[in-house]
Amino acid sequence: MVNAALGRNPLQYDDPYSEKIVTIERFILDKQKGYPGATGTLTNILYDIALASKIIASRTTRAGLVEILGSTGRENVQGETVQKLDEYADSILFKLNDHTGRVAVMASEEHPDILAIPEQYETGPYVLLYDPLDGSSNIDVNVSIGTIFAIYRRKSASGRGTLEDCLQRGRDLVAAGYVIYGASTMLVYSTGQGVHGFTLDPSVGEFFLSHPNIRFPAKPKYYSTNQGYERYWTEGVRRYTEWLQGRDGGNTSFSLRYIGSMVADFHRNLLTGGVFYYPADAKDGTLSSGKLRLVYECAPMAFLAEQAGGTASDGANRVLDLQPESLHQRIPFFVGNQELVEKAEEFIAQFG
Ligand code: AHG
Ligand code: MN
Ligand code: MN
Repeated sequence: MVNAALGRNPLQYDDPYSEKIVTIERFILDKQKGYPGATGTLTNILYDIALASKIIASRTTRAGLVEILGSTGRENVQGETVQKLDEYADSILFKLNDHTGRVAVMASEEHPDILAIPEQYETGPYVLLYDPLDGSSNIDVNVSIGTIFAIYRRKSASGRGTLEDCLQRGRDLVAAGYVIYGASTMLVYSTGQGVHGFTLDPSVGEFFLSHPNIRFPAKPKYYSTNQGYERYWTEGVRRYTEWLQGRDGGNTSFSLRYIGSMVADFHRNLLTGGVFYYPADAKDGTLSSGKLRLVYECAPMAFLAEQAGGTASDGANRVLDLQPESLHQRIPFFVGNQELVEKAEEFIAQFG
């Protein structure tokens, strides 16, 4: 008997064994079955990232306490130097992936050059790129921060990976995701079969599937941008913003929400619908190429956006089609519900 109001068998509520408990491991393993011939290597990299994020989460929730609990100034009780959280997150991600034989090369926002796998360890078929802590200016004020990761197949045939391995187009991503350290910690990722979110239960140290198949809601609510810089924007971006506010021909007005951690802004817009943008600006006198980095910030978020039914643009081009020229290359970035991103392109094409 199906209860029409609930759309499910009411007996399920009395049967504690009928509800699936889906841990991140179970889910990733189930997904792997959809790829015949998969070796499990990618699956294991995703586990390693999940583990890294649990370690980082446990430290981010103690931000502020570390200094208090460290008895000798910058040193903690074990005599280790207290690191800044972004350096700490960077080293955890590297150390959990440097020795596994799964990765050919890594690169991180925190290092000017690519990160070679140490000589004593084997290399593997994948490339891992990451922004260990996104929104670091929010750490000290107890506001959500994140981690972003991107995984490609290596292009080089063997040996230590190369810069070229790290400079691939976003459309060739094998997997991408982010972790948000907020009121709860969530890991959101895609391997090209939709976007799935997991919430960390800190009492057992496990991620559970909480948001399967996330899609941008059809009716977006928010626009997110640092409007404090409006006077440095191009006319197209200024007019686009007015349109979002219901002026300049716009007939809907969106609410403004801006956290200043792209991960958190993107995450909110993914769940509620909206657009995030960090455009080119002329703060320094000449028009910049934006602030956000293509390789380890924009491309992975663009991949997730498309997998969730949205899109991402640099104002004129699909972000996933851009060929990176350098590791820390910046681009103007517009991401979210497709019609809102396309509207930005229209205004920029018309007014610059
Ligand atoms: P990161 O902390 O990794 O350097 O990235 C910060 C980025 C991004 O998260 C955020 O959207 C943007 O900087 C905020 O910049 P403004 O303070 O200029 O708005
Ligand atoms: Mn960042
Ligand atoms: Mn960062």
